Amino acid sequence: MVMHHNSKAEFGAGRRCKCGLSEFARIAGRRIQHHLSVGERAKYMGLPSQSRKSEWLAGRLAAKYLFLNRLEMSQRTQEREWSPTLSKLSSETLGVYSPWMYQQVEVVTNGGKPSLAWCGQTRPESISLSHSGSESCASIAFGAPTAIDVESTGPRIDAFYRSNFTEAERAWALVDPRASRFKANWLFTFLWTLKESALKLDG
Ligand SMILES: CC(C)(COP(=O)(O)OP(=O)(O)OC[C@H]1O[C@@H](n2cnc3c(N)ncnc32)[C@H](O)[C@@H]1OP(=O)(O)O)[C@@H](O)C(=O)NCCC(=O)NCCS
Repeated sequence: MVMHHNSKAEFGAGRRCKCGLSEFARIAGRRIQHHLSVGERAKYMGLPSQSRKSEWLAGRLAAKYLFLNRLEMSQRTQEREWSPTLSKLSSETLGVYSPWMYQQVEVVTNGGKPSLAWCGQTRPESISLSHSGSESCASIAFGAPTAIDVESTGPRIDAFYRSNFTEAERAWALVDPRASRFKANWLFTFLWTLKESALKLDG
């Protein structure tokens, strides 16, 4: 997912995939300790900086919200009626579920690929988290793996293009000489998010 500077997201998702995007500022003020499991709270307290704490928390709350939302919807909706969604999350949206319910959903990472547990039991859903700037996002998928990566577009140093893209990829992104530099930056960022997502899929 590539973020423009005006914070609108370009969205691509497979069937049965739900994504949630939250800006740290939008969830500030919630009593976060009440939304984390005991293990998550311990991890949160050990994180090195306030910015890391904010993105870590925002990503987890997004993943937990998506899981709870899916749990609620699946009571009413047939699996085949699912369609991909992208939700912008705020303090109000998150408030739909009680802190107790958030505590029962645990995002387990152990420094690598995240997974979910509900009431202490491992869940089959696949989840992925990503952070960029002041935004965090999560995706959840059912019956298929998911990976998400969010990045801001912008110019980068030459070494970034040289070391991360093949000649064919560079030619593809720069194919239209009339296009603005912004468009090329967007295409490079798009390719970058695909690569990062592929790495996350592989775990
Ligand atoms: C793992 C990696 C893909 C994460 O991407 P990132 O852009 O640095 O960071 P993001 O904010 O998008 O994602 C961070 C989240 O990824 C998840 N993550 C970490 N390791 C992971 C793994 N091995 N598999 C899947 N997800 C992983 C975590 O949930 C993490 O969030 P958290 O720390 O709050 O739990 C990245 O660190 C990495 O290894 N990149 C390799 C660089 C590279 O070669 N890129 C491709 C160039 S061709």
